[in-house]
Amino acid sequence: MFAADNLTFAYPGQIEPYRFWLEAHDGEVTAVSGASGSGKSTLLDLLAGFARPSGGTITLDGADITALPPEHRPLSLLLQSESLFEHLSATRNVELGLSTATPRADTKSAVEAALAEVGMAGFGAQKAATLSGGQKQRVALARTLLRNRPVLLLDEPFSALDDATRGTIRTLVKELTERHRWHTILVSHHADDVAALATRRYRLENRTLRLE
Ligand SMILES: Nc1ncnc2c1ncn2[C@@H]1O[C@H](COP(=O)(O)OP(=O)(O)OP(=O)(O)O)[C@@H](O)[C@H]1O
Ligand SMILES: [Mg+2]
Repeated sequence: MFAADNLTFAYPGQIEPYRFWLEAHDGEVTAVSGASGSGKSTLLDLLAGFARPSGGTITLDGADITALPPEHRPLSLLLQSESLFEHLSATRNVELGLSTATPRADTKSAVEAALAEVGMAGFGAQKAATLSGGQKQRVALARTLLRNRPVLLLDEPFSALDDATRGTIRTLVKELTERHRWHTILVSHHADDVAALATRRYRLENRTLRLE
C-alpha cells in the first residue's frame, strides 16, 4: 500500500494548511478529483517530493519515504503533456527512463518491448515532435514501464486528447496498472475518466481528501 498519513503543508502566507490522508493499493487506480485550485497538483508535488511537508509521512508498504529526494522515490510522474523531449526520437525518450547502470546490450530489446506493449512498435525512430498527442502519451507510458516504479502519479494525463484517443489511452493505463501491480493515482476533473478507471475515489475539498 502507498499511503499519506496526516501529510501537512502550507504555501508561504497560507494560514490553514493542507492535511492529506490517502491510501492507494497495488493494481488499482485511485482517483483524486476536486475543483480547480483545490490542491490536487500540490498533493502530487508532495508525493513526488517536489514540495516538502511540514509534518506527516508518506509510506510504501510500510517503508517511510517522506525524506527521500524526488529521484530516489519509487514513483513515476505523467503530466498532461510536455513529458517528452521533442527533438529526441521515441526510442531515446523511452531510454531516458532507464538508469545509467543498465547494461547497453539489454537496452534496445527492453525499449522495443516497452514500445510494443503500449502499441507503438515501429515508431522508435520518429522524433517526438512528429507524434500525435495520444502517441506521445503512449511513449511516455513506455518510459514509465522501463522505469518500473511501483507508484504512478498522473496529473490530468488525458486532457489534451480527443474523446476516442482518451478512451484507448485510459484503457491502456488501467491494463498496465493491473498487469504491473502499480499503485496509480489519477488526478482528473473528468467524471467519466474516474468512473472508467478508479476503484478508490477521493474528493479534495477544504484542503482535505474525502473518500467517496
Ligand atoms: N508555488 C505556489 N505558491 C503559492 N501558492 C501556490 C503555489 N502553487 C499553487 N499555489 C496555490 O495553491 C492552490 C492549489 O493549487 P494546485 O495547483 O494544487 O491546484 P489544482 O487542484 O491542481 O488546480 P487545477 O485543477 O487548476 O490544476 C491554488 O490556490 C494555487 O494558487
Ligand atoms: Mg493541477
